[in-house]
Amino acid sequence: MYNEIDLDQINTNSEPPSEEPARQYYFMAKCREWVQRFEQKNNRLPTACIRTFGCQMNAKDSEKLMGILEQIGFGISEKEEADLVIYNTCTVRDNANQRVYGRLGYLHALKKKNPHMLIGLCGCMIQEPSAVEKIRKSYGFVDLLFGTHNIFRLAELLYRRAAEKNMVVDIWESTDAIVEDLPALRKYPFKSGVNIMYGCNNFCSYCIVPYVRGRERSREPEEILREIRDLAADGVREVMLLGQNVNSYGKTLAHPISFAQLLKQAEAVEGIRRIRFMTSHPKDLSDELIRVMKESRKICRHLHLPLQSGSSRILKIMNRKYDKEQYLALAKKIRREIPDISLTTDIIVGFPGETEEDFLETMDVVRQVRFDSAFTFIYSKRTGTPAAAMKNQVPEAVVKDRFDRLLKEVQDIATGQCGKDTGTVQEALVEDIDHKQPGMITGRLSNNLMVHFEGPKELVGNIVTVRLKEAKGFYYIGEMI
Ligand code: 5AD
Ligand code: SF4
Repeated sequence: MYNEIDLDQINTNSEPPSEEPARQYYFMAKCREWVQRFEQKNNRLPTACIRTFGCQMNAKDSEKLMGILEQIGFGISEKEEADLVIYNTCTVRDNANQRVYGRLGYLHALKKKNPHMLIGLCGCMIQEPSAVEKIRKSYGFVDLLFGTHNIFRLAELLYRRAAEKNMVVDIWESTDAIVEDLPALRKYPFKSGVNIMYGCNNFCSYCIVPYVRGRERSREPEEILREIRDLAADGVREVMLLGQNVNSYGKTLAHPISFAQLLKQAEAVEGIRRIRFMTSHPKDLSDELIRVMKESRKICRHLHLPLQSGSSRILKIMNRKYDKEQYLALAKKIRREIPDISLTTDIIVGFPGETEEDFLETMDVVRQVRFDSAFTFIYSKRTGTPAAAMKNQVPEAVVKDRFDRLLKEVQDIATGQCGKDTGTVQEALVEDIDHKQPGMITGRLSNNLMVHFEGPKELVGNIVTVRLKEAKGFYYIGEMI
């Protein structure tokens, strides 16, 4: 992990080093000189704001971007009225892209008021050539465009922007490089995401992720464990191991290791009290993993296991590599081995060619598994994916009707599931004060549900014991004991 380096010791008059991360330290030092000049001129530090769209991976990437900006000397701000605003974008569904385009107009208005303002766009959407073309053509006021593979180069790109005065575009189609030892500014002092792998090799036929995040690359276990140990020493109690498909972790390493083995090693890190991970693909979920979870004191009682569809026919066209029966058998086995586990899922409605019968198969799985919570999505056509070229797209009204029926079903079931632990005593990691009710604080249970209870704000970041008094649909009211 990154150990404070003294940027003032770097000779910024020399040529930039070619190797990483030394090159980025050099450009951080260069940018810091610019920040110092800004401060002298304006009597204040320049401010930076990062907005994150999308998933946990993006949230983690934003922490890395923020770490770089903090080192450079920017004041980190929550507000978009800042001197540098970066949108870390998502493109998994089209509405994510539309939200970014919608907000760019607002940023443009801010930029007209603040001539110093720089606007950057990065992340998944910027890996799509069509989005880049649109931004170049219609949003010329954007200053920086970079993708998912080169976020570690933020300082270099900022420096280039200052020198060139034109839109800087730096997009890599792919990369084998995993650059370690860069700073990160964590959003929470007590919990942190840890990347264990990047990219995805599954090519589910609807999904754009493999195209924008590239091929699967696992980090070396030693690097991951070093990061977890450093986090523990820094007061982190809960880590979330991140990957698009964590169950295939380690297969391509020079010395292959399984995800379950990695978990066991993470479990041995002193100071870490809880381990979560995201996301599991059902096709790769091993018995070894179930056993390790079952025997673990630290791995949380939560498994996110995307179903996508309950129809074996649709699953095949989706290229998911499991069928309805296999999914049901897996869910049953997990619930049998780890009875207190919370099973959550993702479901897509309206995949091309989905019939009412296919949809009813999905409803059937939902009723059989009784998910503790489910994210439901309307199928979104992503250019470049095999599904986008499929002829039989489902009419909007039909999709909407199915979506509403599914949503009602998953919500009714989740509400019932939430009550099942009423009266039990459990540990909760206090994450925040309850902003709606004075005197109350909010904790996360091992099964990922939230519990609200009376307590002092000083407990934020601590693990406390609570009795769950009352279920409120998707959270609990509890009391500390
Ligand atoms: N349309 C709708 N939902 C999608 N997802 C991925 N691609 C699409 C798409 N094209 C959903 C899947 C995945 C989650 C992160 O997003 O359910 O698990
Ligand atoms: Fe997309 Fe499938 Fe990879 Fe998940 S596993 S990121 S749904 S291609």
